[in-house]
Amino acid sequence: MTNPGNWVVATSLEELSAKHKTVVKRQGKQILLWQVGDEIFACANRCPHEGYPLSEGKMSQDCVLTCNWHNWKFDLKSGETLMGGDTLRLFPVRIEGDRIEVDITDPPSDAVQAKALNGLAEAFDDHDYTRIARELFRYERADGDPLDALKAAFGLARDRLEYGTTHAHAGAADWLTLRRELENRSEADRLVPVMEIIGHLSWDSLMDHGNYPYPEGIAGRFDEAALEATIEDEDEKTAIAIARRALQDGDLSRLRASLERASLQHYQDFGHSPIFCDKSFELLESLGGSSADNLILPLVRSLCMGTREDLIPEFRDYAGALSSWDGNGADVPKPEDFRNTGVKACFEKIVNAGGRTDALYDVLMQAACEQMLHYDAGFRTRIDRPVQDNIDWLDFTHAITHLNAVRKIAERQPDLWANGLLQTGCYLGRNANYVDWDQPVGQWGVDNADALFDAIFERLLDHGEPVYIFPVHMLKLSIAVREEIRLRPDAPFVPALLAALNRFVNEPVKRKHARRVANQAQKFVEAQA
Ligand code: FES
Repeated sequence: MTNPGNWVVATSLEELSAKHKTVVKRQGKQILLWQVGDEIFACANRCPHEGYPLSEGKMSQDCVLTCNWHNWKFDLKSGETLMGGDTLRLFPVRIEGDRIEVDITDPPSDAVQAKALNGLAEAFDDHDYTRIARELFRYERADGDPLDALKAAFGLARDRLEYGTTHAHAGAADWLTLRRELENRSEADRLVPVMEIIGHLSWDSLMDHGNYPYPEGIAGRFDEAALEATIEDEDEKTAIAIARRALQDGDLSRLRASLERASLQHYQDFGHSPIFCDKSFELLESLGGSSADNLILPLVRSLCMGTREDLIPEFRDYAGALSSWDGNGADVPKPEDFRNTGVKACFEKIVNAGGRTDALYDVLMQAACEQMLHYDAGFRTRIDRPVQDNIDWLDFTHAITHLNAVRKIAERQPDLWANGLLQTGCYLGRNANYVDWDQPVGQWGVDNADALFDAIFERLLDHGEPVYIFPVHMLKLSIAVREEIRLRPDAPFVPALLAALNRFVNEPVKRKHARRVANQAQKFVEAQA
């Protein structure tokens, strides 16, 4: 049966002919009627951009309505938005005698949802943050679950990321953790984490500005050793085919274990790989199996493409240290033994404690926290140093978030403690060059950890940063720190961990370095000449 509609009298022909346009309110809807020649149109009076009244706009002879606030243009014949973004709601019109009637039946919710997702995709293409928010609200108003919109966004991002998984994926798991804790907050607050994830994905997709589809093909069977070997060979095509087989077979736990091993084969991608791996599977648990392709294929790509930093001279002793790890060392160092200690010496101390991974973990975590607490922040602002001295907060936060990921992975696969803890030695040995042990740090001590986390999470909901990378690191570090402390509130590293976090979130941030870039470019180009 066809829908009879919900026709209401809007105005009379006589009145509209006299005025050409009028605004009426019917059942809570503000409707603009406009006569153009012999045609009569009815549309929402509030512009879908920022809600200013379209009755103050101008109409062309060919029925294009312009909103004068920001010049968006709506073709009232086709319903298309010719300039601008969001679509304008049109109402069907009929004439009954002298009466002009409009059908104000709301479209079915599935149609509204589909339209909102379509709008979200357009906003994603343009990194239009405010439209992302509007379309998410429209979707939610039509009984859509914002997490379904989020899943769609991961689908949009999948083939646009040249290097696969980014911090947007890793941060997404933590944003969703935060969202679950906002249950009693306003609808708007609860939408912020979803907006941030989608905005970040969109930004990263734009930065990669391309189309990078995954190679076709699926392997005949899932072979973990083969997957790890193909990742080692940077053979994305074969690795994707094997991962697809595991996904199709629903063999997620074996796939996860295999990718975790691959993520720790090297000190890879400055330690991002195990973090991305751990967070991708955590995210998959939040979003469900339908997102598996969209999350795991980018992860496999990122593992294939990640830089093997243990192959550069600074970290080259990693392979030898790993092969010398026999798991029997009982000589547990102190955190201060890692002060002013180079990479190779860090490896030796770590191998010598290889039989005491629990104690070693505590020592390394404390050493990493104390380094971060004593980071010589002057390196952020110096403009006369070579490129290898471009050391900033994130070099130190990563030592901690990497170790947090290592712990979770190694608890599942204890043979990976060696890889993970030695990689912490890479951070400690390198970062030791950028620490000022004489600076006072007493002011960063934290008496009330919960209050610190509350303040950080409140700030993150309205962080004010135009780009995503810094707030997402603040989020990731805070969640990792909280995890460590909740798991072991009396661990020896807890005071240093909290103090380091406290300093990080309260020190000024410099995210762009024009003079440093110019100086380094000049020296580099001159040296090449
Ligand atoms: S409010 Fe109409 S174009 Fe911006």
